[in-house]
Amino acid sequence: MEDQKNTGEISRVMVTGAAGFIGSHTCDALLQKGKTVTGIDNLSTGSLDNLADALRHDTFSFHQADICETSLIAKLFNDFQPDAVIHLAALVSVPIAEENPDENDRINVLGTKTVAQAASTCATKRIVFASSAAVYGNSEHLPLSEAEPTNPINQYGKAKLESESLLLPYEKSHAMIPTCLRFFNVYGPRQDPDSPYSGVISIFSRACIQGEPVTVFGDGHQTRDFVFVKDIAHAVVASATNPILPGGIYNLCSGTGITLLELLDALASIHHDIPAPLFKEKREGDLRHSLGDPSRAREILGFTATTSFAEGIRKLQTPNQ
Ligand SMILES: NC(=O)c1ccc[n+]([C@@H]2O[C@H](COP(=O)([O-])OP(=O)(O)OC[C@H]3O[C@@H](n4cnc5c(N)ncnc54)[C@H](O)[C@@H]3O)[C@@H](O)[C@H]2O)c1
Repeated sequence: MEDQKNTGEISRVMVTGAAGFIGSHTCDALLQKGKTVTGIDNLSTGSLDNLADALRHDTFSFHQADICETSLIAKLFNDFQPDAVIHLAALVSVPIAEENPDENDRINVLGTKTVAQAASTCATKRIVFASSAAVYGNSEHLPLSEAEPTNPINQYGKAKLESESLLLPYEKSHAMIPTCLRFFNVYGPRQDPDSPYSGVISIFSRACIQGEPVTVFGDGHQTRDFVFVKDIAHAVVASATNPILPGGIYNLCSGTGITLLELLDALASIHHDIPAPLFKEKREGDLRHSLGDPSRAREILGFTATTSFAEGIRKLQTPNQ
């Protein structure tokens, strides 16, 4: 183990939020690359079903644990001695974070601090953090580049920004390279459509499968920058395991705005005879357009969202991928 730490090879990776939507795809991608992986998750929104493939690997282990339990997290890191950590565990619901700002702070800021401190104590070389486009708030300068001033408008976005700020200095103070990836709208298999806070794609997709009408809030011309989960997992894994990639802040987005009406067209091409959508009043606080600029991640990390929207929507119809 010590030898690997000294040679710069990244072979042991810790993943927090491993049983979640993005976490489980990330574990699968790491295992496919031959890495030894330990997943941590308290299963608050995640499920062991998502890890069915990962759990078949001898090189995968799982611990049901809360990232806020400081001494347990320190022990898990000390036992595993990761070369890199991918920190995805979070309170992900914007409305719940809004109603429970202390809980949002505890999980989304202090939880990040606990993970980062445990990692640095074990001389972990890289930490990759799941940040969010929510740090930009309602900016109208589209597409959003990383140079756009941050102005989060909710507790969740504020906590993501605070986590970025506490992670970035680790490069100088602890020689641990932090990479903060600002995800836009991630979609794909295993996203939980039962959650009222789930992505619009999984909610629409499930309605189509069940032959029910979808509800569109507003006129349907609002746009989102959707990225397929396996493309995200690929970028996350590269950021954690490629020792020559520089850290910093990167948007992970497609750079293409898709309207909700285009999403419905894509679903209609797969599910024939779907009922007409129900249009309701635009919801207070909903963004009209969200669009990221992926240039920096493309130029520095070599990231491109390779899965076309039509292909991603088709793959979504085979849920156990
Ligand atoms: N899905 C998106 O479009 C999107 C966009 C921007 C950012 N993100 C971020 O990506 C990360 C993963 O999100 P996701 O969509 O996979 O959500 P998810 O809910 O499927 O995954 C989060 C996981 O973290 C676990 N978790 C929550 N609190 C925990 C705690 N205190 N201790 C241990 N585990 C805990 C949950 O059980 C869950 O498995 C999150 O940090 C989220 O904020 C996601």
